[in-house]
Formats: sequence, C-alpha cells, structure tokens
Amino acid sequence: MGRRIIIDTDPGQDDALAILLALAAEPGVEVAGITTVAGNVGVAQTTINALRVCQLAGRDDVAVHAGCAAPLMRPLHTAEFICGADGLAGMALPAPRRAANPGHAVSFLVDTIMTSAETVTLCALGPLTNIAMALRMEPAIADRIDRLVIMGGARDLGNITAAAEFNTFVDPHAAAIVFDAGLPITLFPLSATYQAVATPDRLTGFDAKAPIQAQILSMLRRERPGGASLGGADGHPMHDPCVIAWLLWPDLFEGRDCRVDVEVTEGPTVGRTTIDWWGRSGAPANAHVVDRIDADAMFARMAEAVRALDLAQPPTKKAL
Ligand code: RIB
Ligand code: CA
Repeated sequence: MGRRIIIDTDPGQDDALAILLALAAEPGVEVAGITTVAGNVGVAQTTINALRVCQLAGRDDVAVHAGCAAPLMRPLHTAEFICGADGLAGMALPAPRRAANPGHAVSFLVDTIMTSAETVTLCALGPLTNIAMALRMEPAIADRIDRLVIMGGARDLGNITAAAEFNTFVDPHAAAIVFDAGLPITLFPLSATYQAVATPDRLTGFDAKAPIQAQILSMLRRERPGGASLGGADGHPMHDPCVIAWLLWPDLFEGRDCRVDVEVTEGPTVGRTTIDWWGRSGAPANAHVVDRIDADAMFARMAEAVRALDLAQPPTKKAL
C-alpha cells in the first residue's frame, strides 16, 4: 500500500472529485478514512455528502466520521449560494445507505494517527477546525503526521471576501493554530487553484457514458450561480483535487517555502493569509506554497485515474 492518508473535508463539489480521485488512486494511496467538517454546508450535510460520494464509488467500506459543527471562535459561514442547498448541486446522488461511523472525527484523527504503524498524510480540504482540535487534544500527533496538504488561503485576492479564501475565512483561529504547529505543510492557495479551472477542453478525457464519470461531468458542467467563475474563467475551479493530485503527481506543481500567517482579528481582513512570497519578514518558512500547476496534465491524469472507478463497478452499474 502507498502513502496512508486521511481526508478532512466539507463536500462540496470539488471535495467530491478529490475524494473520488483518492479512492481511484488506491493502492497508490491508502485512504485510512474521511473526516467531515462544517464548511460549504453544515456538518450533517457534509457527512451525508461524503457518504454519498463513497457510495457512488462503491466504497461503503471507507470510514466516514462526522466532525466539528462550527468554527472555534467565529459563527459558521456556509456557501450554499455556490454549492447548492445540499452542497452537491450538479450531482444526482442517492441518499447514503449507511450512517457515518461512530466516534467524532477529532477522536478518529487522533486515534488513527497515534496508532498507525506508519506516519499519516492529512489532506485538508475544508476549514481546519477538526485538525486544530486534534492538535489541541493530542499535540503528539504532530510528530506522526508525514505531511499536511491544505487547500486554503490566498496570496492575492480572496474568494469569499476581498481579502480571504473561504476555508481560512470560516475558521481563521483553527488555521492560525495549524500554521503555528510546526507541521510539514504544503499549501494550495487560490493563486494556485484558480489555475485548475474545469474548462470544456479539459473535460474531454472523461467518459459521459460511464456512471461515475457522468456524475463528475454533470457536476463540472453545472451552471455556476451568479455567472462565470471569479476572474471570468470558463468553468469551475477545482480547488480541492489539487491536493490529491499533488500527492499522486508532484511533477505537475511548483512552489517555494514561505512564511504564512493568518489574520484572526475581526474586520475586513479576517481570515486573510499573509504569504511572505518574497521572504520580506525574514521569518522561518512554515509551509511549502504551491504557485504553478500544469492544469491540462492534471485534468488529463484525473480523467484517466477515475476511469478505474467505473471499471471496478459491478456489471449492473456499468449499463447505462
Ligand atoms: O475556497 C475554496 C475552498 O472552500 C474549497 O475547499 C471549497 O470546497 C470550499 O471548501
Ligand atoms: Ca472543500
């Protein structure tokens, strides 16, 4: 088995594709479990959505644990205006057949990391509330986390406010705890992930006749509430899949080590990440910040990878 990972997530369409990509990549990675957090929608719904996505992939064996229902200090902000009322607009997934696994996500994170024979890679696709809580519950997990790969923050403009990206905006206090914990972090801020836009030419590798890929295409082609993506791109930015793609294909990415700080003071910049790209502060780097993505190659490889999910489905599911 390859690298052991836990995906902490707030599905969310881009989270859903990231989860499918990780499941498709097994055994190159081992998905030890999925922990859900409030973000795009409330945690009850993000948990249902994680179960729905695992069910789509035929993977009801994957542990899904529900996590924190609210940020550490701030009120919860959700994003139904972007992802739809159930968080997965564009996908027609049935209700999950199973319930989430018993036990809180934070306990699952701590117990799995502390008992794992090998170190664990954490993939953080939503607000960092669960991960900050796990660090407070058992600081020793920091020594057993091989790498924490985060989608969050903004080097330039934000997406939920002018200053802040959604995940760090929702829970800036959790993000500050995580960035100051001394963990080996790889960070995908918006300046990187807005290069991974699902433009029509990047979707040609997905097979619309295959059930799982058809759901992915439907999600990627859905009308975007409020018009074009920020910056006018012709498609939805696939923020979270960048995290899994980096684990699988690091050759597609470039970045540099930087100091990253998070604004926690209430006001117009709350949740902003200050990414010291030019090293002006002289402070030691606390993250490897990704700057460039070969997005064409990333989408081509994602399409090829998720094909395995459809091929692995029982014959009855293949018929369309
Ligand atoms: O700002 C984009 C991030 O916020 C993505 O992870 C998206 O799923 C939402 O969680
Ligand atoms: Ca997310």
